[in-house]
Amino acid sequence: MGFEYGEISKIAFARNSKFDATLKLYIANGGFEAYRKALKMSPDEVINEVKKSGLRGRGGACFPTGLKWSFMPKSNDVPKYLCVNGDESEPGSFKDRQIFEFNPFQLIEGILIAGYAMGIRTTYIYIRGEYHKWINLMQKALDVAYERGFVGPKMKETFGSDYWLDIYIHKGAGAYICGEETALMNSIEGYRGYPRFKPPFPAQRGLWGYPTTINNVETITAVPQIIKMGGDEYAKIGAPKHPGTLLFGVSGHINKPGVYELPTGTPLKEILYEHCGGIWKNKALKAVIPGGSSMPPLTAEEAEQANMDEESLQKFGTHIGTGGIIVMDEDTDIVKVTYRIAHFYHHESCGQCTPCREGCGWMEKMLKRIYEGDATTKDLDLLYSVASNIEGNTICALGDAAAWPVKGFLTKFRSEFEARVKPSREFVPKNIVHGKRRSAQLLLENRT
Ligand SMILES: Cc1cc2nc3c(=O)[nH]c(=O)nc-3n(C[C@H](O)[C@H](O)[C@H](O)COP(=O)(O)O)c2cc1C
Ligand code: SF4
Repeated sequence: MGFEYGEISKIAFARNSKFDATLKLYIANGGFEAYRKALKMSPDEVINEVKKSGLRGRGGACFPTGLKWSFMPKSNDVPKYLCVNGDESEPGSFKDRQIFEFNPFQLIEGILIAGYAMGIRTTYIYIRGEYHKWINLMQKALDVAYERGFVGPKMKETFGSDYWLDIYIHKGAGAYICGEETALMNSIEGYRGYPRFKPPFPAQRGLWGYPTTINNVETITAVPQIIKMGGDEYAKIGAPKHPGTLLFGVSGHINKPGVYELPTGTPLKEILYEHCGGIWKNKALKAVIPGGSSMPPLTAEEAEQANMDEESLQKFGTHIGTGGIIVMDEDTDIVKVTYRIAHFYHHESCGQCTPCREGCGWMEKMLKRIYEGDATTKDLDLLYSVASNIEGNTICALGDAAAWPVKGFLTKFRSEFEARVKPSREFVPKNIVHGKRRSAQLLLENRT
């Protein structure tokens, strides 16, 4: 395809030359061919292809992408929006930033295809506030795509079609809650990042009250490949019910941490020992969190058997989440890990609903007591009960995200918690004991 360097000014060329080269490379490797193919299909055919591929959201909830797209109203009378979620604030998740850095044009092509399929004219890429480097890189790639006519009104000329769309990058302010899709929309609108009640769902009433689809960066980036190879072929990759490849971000006590693209259903054992070179310092494995800090853990024995797809992980009481694999060796203090995770969720709770606002703080306090050896066996049951009362009783899933790891660690590593607590409260502070004695005495005196 035509790619004339003479078209742009020397200044713009110098500023964006690195991204010009990346774009050129992307095109040389078949970039934007999938979008050209999509343009020859009807929007519904594109959605059906994504449905056939079995693609499920890579942002954590695993929702079928084609189905989500089909919820968008067909009419083009009102504005419709696409929000690409790159907030990526979950501890243990660091894969979307790799796409901003190394494959920005595939993300842009995915946005064009999604936009065409849903009749969307405006897309926001929402990027985590602390990701200064990646906001910068993505903005430069986007500038080049605009200059070169791959985004914006010039698309009409480039692709010979009437359809075009705008893409804006929106920088978050560094709140985990703004990754939740309805809080993300509030944040883009300029309001505090408070999650909204659902229903209405974003496809009914989203950004500024108009139909909106929210998808993760990795989800959208997978779309060009699906259109290129066809949904049926894509569905053959990886686990049948959760097909495709996943970007696994591996961190913690591992020899070769990093982001690895592998088919879904890859055995966790293979990821840890073959791709990532095994547990560091030749130590034994104690636990693995398979999908970001909000997911319940796997024990070492479970990690030996688990495959990395949603259905396989469900058998072990956990989920694929964001595919952020956190590895813990034999010396890890599980109580401390649970306390640290609880601290994070307490800090990030937006405070709108009581079970999450109060419960997350309560869990953190109890875990601190357990960690410091100032709790009893009864507190372990209370902790489990508080977590259970948060789960499923909140406006958004941050409540679940806080409760699941606590319940998971407490259940699967109960002995580590029991070793830290005392059987009964024989160490109750003196003043309370004294106070109780005195009131009992007064009661007796009154009776006589
Ligand atoms: C507290 C919280 C934080 C979230 N953070 C992110 C995030 O950083 N990135 C993301 O893609 N999804 C995040 N999600 C999930 C989104 O709400 C939404 O399900 C997702 O962006 C949809 O995209 P997908 O269908 O492509 O996965 C978060 C959810 C919750 C409850
Ligand atoms: S669950 Fe927590 S973060 Fe979500 S809306 Fe309620 S208080 Fe806010």
